[in-house]
Parts: sequence; structure tokens; C-alpha cells
Amino acid sequence: AAIKKYQFDIQVKNVSRLCHAKPIVTVNGRFPGPTIYVREGDRVLVNVTNHAQYNMSIHWHGLKQYRNGWADGPAYITQCPIQTGSSYTYDFNVTGQRGTLWWHAHILWLRATVYGAIVIMPKQGTPFPFPQPNREVEILLGEWWHSDVEEVVKEGTNMGLPPNMSDAHTINGKPGPLFPCAEKHTFVMEVELGKTYLLRIINSALNDELFFAIAGHNMTVVEVDAVYTKPFTTSAILIAPGQTTNVLVQANQIPGRYFMATRPFMDAPLSIDNRTATAILQYKGIPNTVLPTLPQLPLSNDTQFALSYNKKLRSLNSPKYPANVPLKVDRNLFYTIGFGKNSCPTCLNGTKLLASLNNISFAMPQTALLQAHFFNIKGVYRADFPDKPPTPFNYTGAPLKANLGTATGTRVSKIAFNSTVELVLQDTNLLTVESHPFHLHGYNFFVVGTGIGNFDPAKDPAKYNLVDPMERNTVGVPTGGWTAIRFKADNPGVWFMHCHLELHTGWGLKTAFVVEDGPGQDQSVLPPPKDLPPC
Ligand code: C2O
Repeated sequence: AAIKKYQFDIQVKNVSRLCHAKPIVTVNGRFPGPTIYVREGDRVLVNVTNHAQYNMSIHWHGLKQYRNGWADGPAYITQCPIQTGSSYTYDFNVTGQRGTLWWHAHILWLRATVYGAIVIMPKQGTPFPFPQPNREVEILLGEWWHSDVEEVVKEGTNMGLPPNMSDAHTINGKPGPLFPCAEKHTFVMEVELGKTYLLRIINSALNDELFFAIAGHNMTVVEVDAVYTKPFTTSAILIAPGQTTNVLVQANQIPGRYFMATRPFMDAPLSIDNRTATAILQYKGIPNTVLPTLPQLPLSNDTQFALSYNKKLRSLNSPKYPANVPLKVDRNLFYTIGFGKNSCPTCLNGTKLLASLNNISFAMPQTALLQAHFFNIKGVYRADFPDKPPTPFNYTGAPLKANLGTATGTRVSKIAFNSTVELVLQDTNLLTVESHPFHLHGYNFFVVGTGIGNFDPAKDPAKYNLVDPMERNTVGVPTGGWTAIRFKADNPGVWFMHCHLELHTGWGLKTAFVVEDGPGQDQSVLPPPKDLPPC
């Protein structure tokens, strides 16, 4: 194992897209930011120095950070922000994980431009459990706003209105030739006939679940969220914000130019969105003048495709990479996803939208929860988050006024060390109907079941997949449906869980688990590093 060191300078830089230049927050002046390349077993030191006029915090999405929440990064959950002119070194080990993950700012909406890939190669001498590719390429899907992201946040969180949609999607920071001023802003991937490519695809968009396809070429899915899958071939993938997907692509078509394209899957009835971003897969020797062909992407409301695609995702579950699914459950949690309105004198309509779990909208604290937990600081959070909603109701039936009441509070759930937890996330149609990609920090979990309508505790668990369910760190809760996950609480600390749609996170669709220390010497939260930013 090696020590890998990176320097991240947070700086504002002028970047132009769609014929329009604007200052954005970057790492080392790059957009998207630099890729972190490590090997399983390495220790990583990333020194983040903040030269910008914004508070900053960086999250290493999907890394488990065993006993080491201090390096996890969500602002006010595991650390206070890195202030202008200050530095903090994220110091962590990459243990028991290999594959594609990513890093992003974890404060307000700054991840709109502050993000990059993490590539974890398997240990030296350990091959991939699939054909060795000739080359690997990172594909980061994102969004671009004309307006300042700060302004967008103000509209969304302070005014109580849904903010403007982004003006374009991007592939590796570039919208591509279907948008104006694209000449320099198109990502081109050159391929050679007969070779195999591993695409490491990351959805770093703020608010959109995305389809991705390549004209004329199928993709073989081999890994999601840094966990190997049973390989399957598909013409398009579906990827939610926060998720990663590795696919093999063979350059086996008539040499030419082919579009790669991405556009949102929107099953929310109110959304109209068609800002398709494109990039070009170009065979070697083919001139730039050849017109590329567009792929067939599923329609933006193709729920059927989404359901059948997600069903195909299975853990590889080989002797070398077994799926250790918890078979018995110590703690059953059932969280409803809801939306409510609270009065807000400064907002346009006098009300403000809130999103909630079990009717509780999470209020951000002023002191980081992990510090409050570790140093036993009282009054920062309450560990009384309810295991069930206040009153059961027909979650996916007609909207019920009685259930619109939303409380706000910094409330979390305490979990005993090494206990196995089952969490059912139930969507409701109290106000809107939308799918939600839920992300848990500090853990991978197994997606043991999912369905449409109300979760039925008498019937649905019998249909769980406890053999080879997908193990991942971010999972979609379908519109008007539910998803059941299981994990073993073997990583002590405070771990954030939230919807990875930034808009919904901003409205309070988040909570945290406080996983208690175990009795063993090496089963407790490590002491904080000396340079941890002060609150
Ligand atoms: Cu990728 Cu808490 O986030």
C-alpha cells in the first residue's frame, strides 16, 4: 500500500459555456475537478486550501471511512466548513473497496461545479472479474446553470419556490454540439476498431436522474457504486445523482462518429425537461466532418424501462466477492418521504416548501454532529428520530391534508454497534410525486426489495432477494413506491442519509444515524485530526 497525496486549491475561475462566461468555484481551476487515482489499500491525503469567498467542505462519496467520519466531509454533520484562507487535510484509508466513486463539495449547492472522479484500482496483481479493457475513460454527467448557483439556491431554499432548472446537461463539463458555442465544449472520446473500453460513468448532476446511451453500441454493466455486478448488456443505462456505473464498450461498429447522449428520466408529472447533452465517440482516422448519429434514448417518462433496468442489477456474489446480506434484522425502520408547507413571512406566497422523513424536516445544526457526539456536547441534536411515521395512512392514495403537518428539528436515530438494520423508504404523494435517490454515508447497503404502492409488511418481505441483491451506496425510491435496504451497523460514527437531489436535501429531506461505539478497542470513533476546522 502507498500514500497518495493531493493538493486541492479551491479557487474561483471564469468558465464559459453556452456562449456565456461566468465565475465558478473550482478545484485547481479545473471543471470538472481532478481525478483521484488510488489502489485498494492506499492511504490518501488530500489537502484542501480554500482561496474562495465561500465556505467549503469536500465529501468522498461512497468511501466507507471506517471509524473515521472526520474525513467524510458533509458540512455541519462531520465537520464545520473550511473557511476562506484555511486548510484541512482529509486523511483516509481505502480499505476493502475498488471501483469508481467520486468526490464533491458537500455544502449548499457548491457541488454544481466542485466535483470529480475517484478511481480505485484493485490491489496489485488482482484482475477485474471481467475482460480486461484496453483503456479506461471517466464520464462525468452534470448540469450547467447560466445564473449563479447561489442565486438558484436562494430561489429554492429561501423563497420557498422550486428554483430554475439548469440550462444544459453536460458530459465531462461540456454540453456538446446540440447547444450553441459548442466547438470547444464537446467531449470527444477516440476509439480504435476492435478495442474494449471501460467507461466509468458518474452522475454528478444536482437534480436529475439520467439516461445515458451510445449510438450503435451496446454497453455491458459490470459495476455500480464500486461493487461488481453480474454483467448484463443494455442499450441504455439509468443513473441517479450520486450513483456510478462502470460499463464495457466494444469498438466493433463501422468506423465513424457516434453520439453519446444523456437526458433526464422524469417520472414526476410536472417536469418537462429535454436538455440532452452529447459527446462524441470517434473512431481513429475518421474526419471531424462526418455527421454523428444520435442514440435512441428511453423517453423521459419511460418508467417501465427504469423498473426493468433496476431489476437487472445484481451483486456479482462470487466466492471472491460474496454478497454478505444480513439475514436477520435487529432493528426495523420505516421512513415516509413527504412534502409539506410551513408559513414563511419572507416568502412569496407566505409559505415555504419543506421535505420530510416521518414528517420531520431536518434542521441543519451550527456544530458538527460528529463533534457533538464525540465530545458529548449537549443540545446540538436529539437522538429521538421515530422508527415509524406518526400515524400510518394510505401513503400512495389521495393526498391527505391531515398528514401535511411537518415538524422541523435536528433529530437523528441512535443505532447499536453491529446491529443489522432494515430501512424501508416509502414514497408518499402528499404534495408531489417524485422518485428519490437516497444516499447513506459511511456504508454500503443491500437493496433487498422494491415495489410500487404501499409497502406491505405481511407480504413484501417474503419476496425479498436475500441472495444476490445489489450492494450500493445510493438507491432510488420509485415514485409512489418503496425500497427496502439492509446494512450491518459496523462503522461507528455519525452518518448522514439524504436524498441526493440537491433541491430536496435543501428542503430538509435528510437525517443521520448515530452508530454507537463497539466494546472492542478498535471499534470506536478515532480521535479527530488536529487541523479539523473549528465550529
Ligand atoms: Cu454524494 Cu451526502 O453525498
